Amino acid sequence: MKDNTITEASQYIRKQTSSTPTIGLILGSGLGVLAEEINEQIVIPYGDIPHFPKSTVAGHKGQIVLGNLEGKQVLAMQGRFHYYEGYSMEQVTFPIRVMKELGIHSIVVTNAAGGINTDFSPGDLMLIDDHINNMGTNPLIGPNDEDLGVRFPDMSSVYDEEYIQLAERCAKELDLTVKKGVYVGNTGPTYETPAEVNMLRTLGGDAVGMSTVPEVIVAGHANLRVLGISCISNMAAGILDQPLSHREVIETTDKVRGDFLKFVKRILKTID
Ligand code: HPA
Repeated sequence: MKDNTITEASQYIRKQTSSTPTIGLILGSGLGVLAEEINEQIVIPYGDIPHFPKSTVAGHKGQIVLGNLEGKQVLAMQGRFHYYEGYSMEQVTFPIRVMKELGIHSIVVTNAAGGINTDFSPGDLMLIDDHINNMGTNPLIGPNDEDLGVRFPDMSSVYDEEYIQLAERCAKELDLTVKKGVYVGNTGPTYETPAEVNMLRTLGGDAVGMSTVPEVIVAGHANLRVLGISCISNMAAGILDQPLSHREVIETTDKVRGDFLKFVKRILKTID
């Protein structure tokens, strides 16, 4: 039996628009501007949607924007829910459930992340080809609703390989260099210690952030196709001889915004 909250939220969204989104965009810290380029847009504040939590972090807007972008019907989330804000994993991933219910088949998940891989530089874009769930919990803990997905979802190819290749082709066409690697999801809200960054590198991580992993796990459970893009906003702690700050994260994402917008728009144009 599908949870009523999911149907109520999606019915509310359906009533506000005649558009039928097929692609969901989750726009991370400083990357929400992409939603401003959506044509014939309908904006719905999270607070208006039944059962939707509200976003609180600086740099996140807290609304969904529906409409047409590069010829695709999209639903963009300007701002997401983070576990560190105190939301439950169920709340953090609720929008993914709603997207699925609305008929969305693919999501593009974006975030700002710290670079662990020393070949990376602030301002790089990284295609996520795998993740490490280092959050100490899992959004699927609890009774499994078979209407939503299987009890033990396979995570071996949750980041769609065809989408990665498509994104790499788009980057090439645009003359953009993009990296590829493993995203580590930590809870935050602290940034890592230098020792933790070394540990994560040893474990195979290339970038670290405080989001994305829960949403992608639930997307995998719901059989959605996923493309993940990290904007390397800073080098993770201990790599450069400087402290980390949220301001640096915002400033770097401001700088790469142009490339990021071009890149995601090209991907949308090309994607099915
Ligand atoms: N660590 C964790 N999360 C982040 C970072 C970081 O260095 N940068 C942006 N989000």
